[in-house]
Order: sequence, then C-alpha cells, then structure tokens
Amino acid sequence: MNNEYHYPVLLYKAIEYLLNPFFKKHTIVDGTTGGGSYSEAIAEKISDDSRLICIDKDIHAIEFASLRLQKYHAKVIFEKGNFADIRTYVNKNGYNEISGLVLDLGLSNYQLKSEPGFSYRN
Ligand SMILES: C[S@@+](CC[C@H](N)C(=O)[O-])C[C@H]1O[C@@H](n2cnc3c(N)ncnc32)[C@H](O)[C@@H]1O
Repeated sequence: MNNEYHYPVLLYKAIEYLLNPFFKKHTIVDGTTGGGSYSEAIAEKISDDSRLICIDKDIHAIEFASLRLQKYHAKVIFEKGNFADIRTYVNKNGYNEISGLVLDLGLSNYQLKSEPGFSYRN
C-alpha cells in the first residue's frame, strides 16, 4: 500500500524487538495505531492464535487502519481510546497480560496535513 498516512522510519527495528522469536503466541498492543504500518507488519508476522490490540485516540486513524488490516480481522482488535487506558482495553478483551507494546509517539503525516487544528500548511 502506498503509505501517504505515515512513513514509519523505525518499523523494522521495532518489530525485531517486539516479537520474541521464542514465543509462539503473542498478545501485542499497538498503542498508537495511526495509519497501521506497524500494526500491519505485526499482524503479518504473528500466528493465527495470537492477538494484536490496536489503540488510537483518533477515530479517523482507527477507521483507516481497520480497512487496511481487514484481511487480518480474526487476530486484530481495534479500540478507539487513549493508550493510558491500556489495562482497560487489554482486560476488556479477555487478557491479563501482554507480550509486547509498541508506542510510535507523535502525529502522522495525515494528521499534519488534514486534521483541523494540526495543519500549519493550509
Ligand atoms: C506517529 S503516529 C503513529 C503512526 C503509526 N505507527 C503508523 O504506522 O501509521 C502517532 C499516533 O498516535 C496517536 N496518539 C497520540 N497520543 C495518543 C494517546 N495518548 N493514545 C492513543 N493514541 C494516541 C495519534 O492519534 C497518531 O495516530
């Protein structure tokens, strides 16, 4: 996918640290899902019985990423909210602990270009 939404510069390094090769089953949280580049790379790599919980406080990001990750729907859960409430989202989905968390902090290109209040270009 041509990723206009966000260019994830540390993606491959982050995934390398995030996915312990000794684990067969992961419960991963992407706390800043954005356009879903990290989430897509994680969803591709985890087993079918692993789970990825994708959180973002921006509903546009959640909508964009859920479309992008449609083919992984069986192992991906989307939650619109603040990653500060991670425990709530993890527990709500039936988990008590996670095997990894990624936070790609900041704004995405999309938010800088299009969101009301963020853009300094327009
Ligand atoms: C740099 S972007 C993430 C890009 C993403 N990794 C990707 O691959 O497209 C940061 C995202 O974090 C989200 N965000 C910022 N603070 C947040 C918070 N406290 N809780 C949840 N999401 C937050 C923003 O809405 C934005 O979508």
